[in-house]
Amino acid sequence: MKIRKSSAFDGTEIEKIHIKAFGKEKGSEIADLVDGLFNDKTATPLLSLVAVEGEQLIGHILFTNATLTQTTEPVSAQILAPLAVLPDTQSKGVGGQLIEEGLTRLKETGVELVFVLGHPDYYPRYGFIPAGKKGYEAPYPIPEEHAGAWMVQELSAGIIGRIIGKVRCSDVLNQPEHWRE
Ligand SMILES: CC(C)(COP(=O)(O)OP(=O)(O)OC[C@H]1O[C@@H](n2cnc3c(N)ncnc32)[C@H](O)[C@@H]1OP(=O)(O)O)[C@@H](O)C(=O)NCCC(=O)NCCS
Repeated sequence: MKIRKSSAFDGTEIEKIHIKAFGKEKGSEIADLVDGLFNDKTATPLLSLVAVEGEQLIGHILFTNATLTQTTEPVSAQILAPLAVLPDTQSKGVGGQLIEEGLTRLKETGVELVFVLGHPDYYPRYGFIPAGKKGYEAPYPIPEEHAGAWMVQELSAGIIGRIIGKVRCSDVLNQPEHWRE
């Protein structure tokens, strides 16, 4: 399995991964979100990686630009959304490798904080911790019962606990439907 940046030719295969991983209805919405983010200037800089086995794309992860507002210091931040692995190849570490490769590449480009709204039992395996308690407000209020799903990870030591703020994401991701259960 190899991980590489996605290219414009991968669009259809990426769409299929999300539809198969999330199911037809939710997957189509996610595929539209990905397409929208690829065309959203406010989502840049973005990092889109695919996991490839032989000729087949088996996983996709997307990180897009985020901004910290109401803060004392500017911070370089990104949001992870979405991540999907083909059902046949799940639980073999592909998702984890996509996250880790993404974080490594983001760190190399100077990104300091990465946010995610996702499964609170999954992302902590890869270093994410609850973000609300650390003073990072999500673009839309997260209901108390889902507070653990809003997570952050620092790629530069000493940011968490020192700098807080409200997260603003790209225009396409900044739609309320992407922040509901
Ligand atoms: C979530 C997902 C990306 C993980 O990909 P993967 O390649 O299977 O992940 P990994 O192999 O790194 O990790 C697998 C482990 O995560 C666990 N896991 C998967 N989804 C999980 C979830 N929603 N909550 C908690 N744990 C989860 C698996 O049970 C497995 O556990 P094990 O190692 O104890 O067997 C994949 O299951 C997927 O595409 N799911 C559908 C789409 C989705 O929910 N995307 C995430 C949106 S936040």
